[in-house]
Order: sequence, then C-alpha cells, then structure tokens
Amino acid sequence: MLKGRATAQATATYAGRFADLPGNYRETIGVAVSSIGLGTYLGEADDATDAAYAGAIRAALTGGINLIDTAINYRFQRGERVIGATIAAMAAGGAIRREEIVVATKGGYITFDGSMPPDPRAWFEEHFIRPGIVTAADLVEGSHCLTPRWLEAMIAMSRANLGLETIDIYYLHNPEAQLGAVGRDEFKRRLRAAFELLESKAADREIGVYGAATWNGFRVAPDDRGYLSLLELTRLAEEVGGKDHRFRVIQLPYNLAMAEAFTARNQRLPDGAMGNTLAAADALGVAVCASASLLQGRLTRGLPPLLNDAFDGFDSDAQRALQFVRSTPGINVALAGMSSAAHVADNLATARRPPAPFDRLMRLFKRVG
Ligand SMILES: NC(=O)c1ccc[n+]([C@@H]2O[C@H](COP(=O)([O-])OP(=O)(O)OC[C@H]3O[C@@H](n4cnc5c(N)ncnc54)[C@H](OP(=O)(O)O)[C@@H]3O)[C@@H](O)[C@H]2O)c1
Repeated sequence: MLKGRATAQATATYAGRFADLPGNYRETIGVAVSSIGLGTYLGEADDATDAAYAGAIRAALTGGINLIDTAINYRFQRGERVIGATIAAMAAGGAIRREEIVVATKGGYITFDGSMPPDPRAWFEEHFIRPGIVTAADLVEGSHCLTPRWLEAMIAMSRANLGLETIDIYYLHNPEAQLGAVGRDEFKRRLRAAFELLESKAADREIGVYGAATWNGFRVAPDDRGYLSLLELTRLAEEVGGKDHRFRVIQLPYNLAMAEAFTARNQRLPDGAMGNTLAAADALGVAVCASASLLQGRLTRGLPPLLNDAFDGFDSDAQRALQFVRSTPGINVALAGMSSAAHVADNLATARRPPAPFDRLMRLFKRVG
C-alpha cells in the first residue's frame, strides 16, 4: 500500500507544474485540487473498459487533474482497482507522488467482485452474511447499508483495491436511500453510528475527511421524504467529532440541466435564513464536488446556441457544459466521467481558461429563466 495522503505542500507543487492552467486549482479540504475531477462511474465491467480508464487516469494525472472519484460498487470494484494499479505504476515510475493527488471513494451499496456472480444471492450470503458483516435486516431495498460493521469492511476493501493506506475523501454513498425505508429518527441514529465509525477511521488515518455523496438529498424540497439538511448533518458530525469533525465534503449532481444546488433555496443556513446548498456548504465549511457535470454525456452535443454566446471561445459543448459547472461560485470541483484519454484532453482545454465571471453566469440564468 502507498503510504500518506494528499498534502498542502505536495498538491501546491503539483499545481505549480501546470502554468498553462491558470485558475485551475482551488483550496479544497486544505489541499490544492483541480477544478475538474475525473469520475469513474460509467462503463462495462470488462477488461477493455479497465484499459480505457487506465489510459484516461494516466492522461488526467499527467495533464493537471489531481482528483479522482470512484465508489466501491463502480463496475463491481474494477473502478477502484484500475485507479489503484494506475497510481501505483505512475508513482513507481516517478510520474507522480502519492501526496500530490486526491482520491475519493464511497461506501453504502453492496458490490460483487469484478463481475456479476452466477448466483448473486448465494455469493452475497457466503461473503457477507455468513461472516457476520451484515444481516439481511441491515439492508435497505436489498442493496444499501450504512452500519459501522459494513462500512468498516467496505473501507478495508477500498483501501486494498486502491492500494492506499489513506483514502483522502470517504463518502457515504446516497445516504438518503435509507429514508425510503426508515423514519427520520432512525435515520439520524444510523448516521450517528456511521459518523462515529468514520471519525475513528479518520483518527486512525485510514481516511482523511468524509462526507455524503448524494443524488436527490440536497436537491429536493425540505418536505420531501429523501431530503437532507446539510446543517443537521454537520451538527451531527460536530456532536460526534467536536468542532474539528471531519465531515468536510459533499457531492451532488450539478449541471446545466440540474442546477438546484444554485437555484433551490432549500437549506437552512446557520443564521436561520434559507439559502441554496452552495451557500449552506460555504457557511458550514464543507467543500462541494459536482457530479454528473455533463448529465452523463447528454450535454456533450446539441446545446442551444445561447451557450455558445455565454461561453465563447470554447471548442465543444462538453467544454461549455464543464465551464458552467466549474465557474459556479461554491463548486470546488466539477466531476466529469472520463474513460477516454481524448475526452480528458478535450476537458483539460477548459481548465486552460479562467472560470467565467459571475455576471456572465447570471446572464445565462436570466436568459434560461
Ligand atoms: N450519487 C453519486 O455519488 C454519484 C452519481 C453520479 C455520478 N457520480 C460521480 O460523478 C462522476 C461524473 O458523473 P457521470 O460519470 O455519471 O456523468 P458525466 O460526467 O456527466 O458524463 C460522463 C460521460 O460523458 C462522456 N464525456 C466526458 N467528456 C466528454 C467530452 N469531452 N466529449 C464527449 N463526451 C464526454 C464520458 O465518456 P467516456 O467515458 O467515453 O470518456 C461519459 O460517457 C461519476 O463518474 C462519479 O464519479 C456520483
């Protein structure tokens, strides 16, 4: 396993190597992080996709992208394993130092081992139920679990897959999935137990910071069954871990078609007023990574011409869509899924430009609205 974690000094040195990317690096969780991160969600669980991701990750880390996002269940653990193998090879060859890069992963969903087993139920029983890692009653919708015992096993597996002693960012994956099955009091009890485990893993340096990677939770209205309050989550983390708790990052979809992080005033701020998720995160000292910046590829072609006007000088719709996300104040990192090195190059061209000024972004909202 590679020792250490991303550090302020090493990430600053990394950023210093990319003079052609002005405005690309932002201080996030105390380190310099590129405004575009590489996501690894999509794709088949096969060797060809592994090889494609290896090439894309290599191109990204060589080209100035120093945040990689994954989850244990992405492509049945192949997502994490290809990241681990690529980082290990690049570090061994001197192309990067481990401390220069930020690796984020997630736990919550059950996963198989590299491929779908012939009898998934029997496989799960043998590997997780019989060893006592999880009981059927711990699972929500047969696929999601946040118990400390489960998360502890997932963190151990992720560290082994990634080959990293310390995972820089560890997310609870779509915690709001639990709200489909349990009430708010039980949800809070489960989250408290999960946070206790994550604080202890941070103290043991198995993870750096933790947070919640969500799909609906921060986008829906407060009366929605799956709603998450960031204020409540950080208060809970403070109850568990004190003022220096490590609940420091969230992830939610944000793109031209899903702009609720900016447009929905659905979060209670510390001063009692309502504001959007980005304002709440800023007030609470929580960094924001935008997922699905390209709406899973659908914003990479056929954008309306008004986007050309708003973001002139870009070569592709993907660049314009990414520029929107990385220019929104409060978004620290725009995650784009990339299994193609050519897409990495296309997206890196965006990072060569400074973020769009706020008034230009606001003009876009007015014209769309
Ligand atoms: N709830 C959660 O926690 C959650 C949910 C969704 C996503 N995420 C995270 O966010 C990351 C990004 O989201 P996503 O991967 O779902 O969707 P996305 O980033 O919106 O889109 C990824 C798709 O866009 C394509 N693409 C990338 N750059 C392109 C370019 N320049 N031109 C044309 N096509 C391009 C990719 O193709 P190639 O693969 O061929 O390069 C891929 O098919 C994920 O990978 C994951 O890490 C988290």
